[in-house]
This record gives sequence, structure tokens and C-alpha cells, in this order.
Amino acid sequence: MRDPDFTLAAGPTAASARTLAALGSPITYHYDPVFLDAFRRTEAKVGQLFRTKNEVILMQGEAILGLEAAARSLVRPGMPVLNLVSGPFGKGMGYWLKNFGADLHELEVPYDQAVAPDAVERYLDEHPETELLCVVHSETPSGTFNDCALIGPMARSRGVLTLVDCVSSLGGMPLDADSWQLDVCVAGPQKCLGGPPGMSLVAVSEQAWAAIEGNPVAPRASFLSLLDWREQWHGRGQFPYTPSVCDIHGVEAACDQVLEEGLEASIARHEAAARACRAGAREMGLRLWPASEDIAAACVTAVAVPGGLDHEVVRDHVREHYGVMLSSGQGAGNLVRIGHMGPTADGLKPVVGLMALGRSLADLGATVRIGAGVETALALLAGTAPVIPRFRPRPGLRHRRPQRRQAQRRRARVRWNAGRPGRPGSPGAAARGP
Ligand SMILES: Cc1ncc(COP(=O)(O)O)c(C=O)c1O
Repeated sequence: MRDPDFTLAAGPTAASARTLAALGSPITYHYDPVFLDAFRRTEAKVGQLFRTKNEVILMQGEAILGLEAAARSLVRPGMPVLNLVSGPFGKGMGYWLKNFGADLHELEVPYDQAVAPDAVERYLDEHPETELLCVVHSETPSGTFNDCALIGPMARSRGVLTLVDCVSSLGGMPLDADSWQLDVCVAGPQKCLGGPPGMSLVAVSEQAWAAIEGNPVAPRASFLSLLDWREQWHGRGQFPYTPSVCDIHGVEAACDQVLEEGLEASIARHEAAARACRAGAREMGLRLWPASEDIAAACVTAVAVPGGLDHEVVRDHVREHYGVMLSSGQGAGNLVRIGHMGPTADGLKPVVGLMALGRSLADLGATVRIGAGVETALALLAGTAPVIPRFRPRPGLRHRRPQRRQAQRRRARVRWNAGRPGRPGSPGAAARGP
């Protein structure tokens, strides 16, 4: 298959030319003074993006590594932990916490909703023994977010540490680690920063360090050790292992780009792309996956897949026929996601995503008002829409259980190819033979 024309997926997202050029910088020895400077500058820039004065650790490995390292560092057997679950990444954190021996309690909501801060407050009041709260800020697969601005201070005022997965929110949604009183934040550069995949950006508060240092089972002398980074790199200037020189240059360039644009402006750009994309999808007659727009994340637009179609079939059709890579539901449900992250939260790219999705759904038999949706999104992006159009549910669209994907893919292909000479499923194809 040819390369995609547009990568509008939920991350890794397209990187800017500047980031790509930085990834191609000469590879130096990791103790070369030039690289040491670059590494320290990058730590400081990541701290600025987190809006924190806390210590920043840059770990080599996709954000899952940082999340596992943070959870293993904080949790000791028997520790009472509250985990908020509103999507697959929250659920996954719960499996880890249990594995690491936590006395695990969860507040779980359906994956189209967010955990209500009131419910968190009530739980913490009723369970003063809680020591750690884990929350996913932006649940990328569900396209929703949890209100960490409220949850952070609730936890801190009760002496509860927080571990926050902000992998897909950093740079694209408001996130203020210090004023929200968050203890450990873990982000990925490959989402709203438009950087390379393969690194974990971690910020750790003094309260969290005290807990980690006092935890006898926190990883030490391990690839997963936050303590090694603190003691060896920040303490003695020695890396615990060789960082990927290229990735650090790529992350620094991605940070520079956001900081030069201005963090507020970057967030506003993501929010504008998300607003236009959501309004366009609604106007097409599609249902947004998040139960309410108040909890819709700014980094992806999650759209429920209509008409008994399957999300992966739709995603694959979009890619195969229109050269646009979207994301499927990734365990959150039967939904497709248009990513608007970093460089893709810009210009007409969200409209490209909408057009490709709308056209594909129509190819597959759904009734979609493509033109109306595109016009709405364009008007919002151009700033001319007088009001955000109201959602008018269409009676024709039903959300049925997914059918067998193979059969559905085959039927979709046959329908699509019908009438195209020489394609399987086209009139006369069988007679022509393979
Ligand atoms: C909310 C969230 N947490 C964690 C991860 C895992 O990050 P990575 O893919 O960099 O390991 C992702 C990736 O999509 C994510 O969206």
C-alpha cells in the first residue's frame, strides 16, 4: 500500500519538518558537552510545558515505560490506592496497581464518560487511608478527559499523592502540574507536541520523591527506576543508560516549536481544531462518542460508528481508499478517532479527516451529510460561524453490535468496487477470472 497522504491518527502524529530535521542531527557521544547541554535544556523545556518547577526525568522508552516506572516506584504492597477508570488506559493502570500489590479501589464509569470530581471527593472523605490516586487526564481512546484541575487539589489537601497520565494532553490541553498540585505527571512527545515516539516525559514532586525514596520495593538499578535517574544523572551527572541522542534532539525541537508558538496558543489551536471537528461530525449526522462535549478532549474527535459498521473496517477503508490514517476505538468501543495533535491540529487538516471519514461511511452504506458537516467545520475554522450548530439526531442511524469483520470488509470491498472495471466484485470480474 502507498504511504498515507495524511496521518490524522491518535498519535504518533505527524511531526513538523523542523522536528524531523532535528531527529537527523549528527549522533554525538552522549557525554559530549554539546549533548549534555541539549539534554539539560530539553529537561527544562519539558518542565515549562508541564508548568512545573518539579524535577523532570526524560526516560528512553515510550510513555508506557514512564507510567509503569512511576506506578512501580510509588506503590508498595498493601498500599491503599484509588484508581479512576474512564477508558482503556485507566483500566490498564488498575491491572498494574493490582500486580504491584496495591490495595486497589476503583471508581469506574462507562468509557464515554468522565469520573465526576464529586464522586472522587466523596470517596476520599470516606476513605482517609488512601495514599495514592491514579488518573488519566486525557483518555485518548475514548476522546474524553478527567478534570485534574479539581482532582489534584482534592487529593493534595488530603495528603494523597497523584499519578497523572497526561500522555496525550501535554501541549494541547490546559495542564498546570504545579497549580493543580499534581505529584507525578507522565507525558509522551508523540501526541500534542508533535515529537517522536519513544520517550517518556516525567515530572515528580518533592512529596512523590519522599514516598519513592521511602518505598523499599521501588525499582533500583533497573531500566524502570526513577531513583536511578535522580541519584545518578541529577546527583552525579551519570546517565543510568545511554539516552537516544536523536530522540532528545527531536523532543527539544518539538518543545521549542510549542514554546515559540506559546503554550496558550498551542492549546487554543488544538481546541479550535477539536471544536470544528466535533461540530462538523455532528452536522454530518454522526454521534460524538463522549456523552457530553464538556468532557471531550481536544486532541482527538471520537465519533461513534453508525449503521452496524465496525470501527476497524471503517478505519481501514479510509486509509485504503482516501490515503488518510485515522484511529479506531483501541478498546474504548465502536468508534473512530480523528486525531488533531501537534501539526495536525492546524489549517484544514481536521476537515480532511472529516471528509475522509464522511465519504467512507457513505461508501459503506451509512447516510451522512458530508457537505453540511464540511461547511460547518470550515465556517468555524474561518471564524464565521455565528453559533455552534445544534445537534439534530437523524432517525436513520442505528448503532448495532459489530458483525464479523472479515465478512463486513469483503462486503464493503465488493460494494465499493462494484462498477469499477477489473476490480473483484465488479460486473464481469468473475468471468474475467483472477
Ligand atoms: C492516555 C494514554 N496513556 C498512555 C499511552 C501509552 O503511550 P505510548 O504509546 O507512548 O506508550 C497512550 C498512547 O496512546 C495514551 O493515549
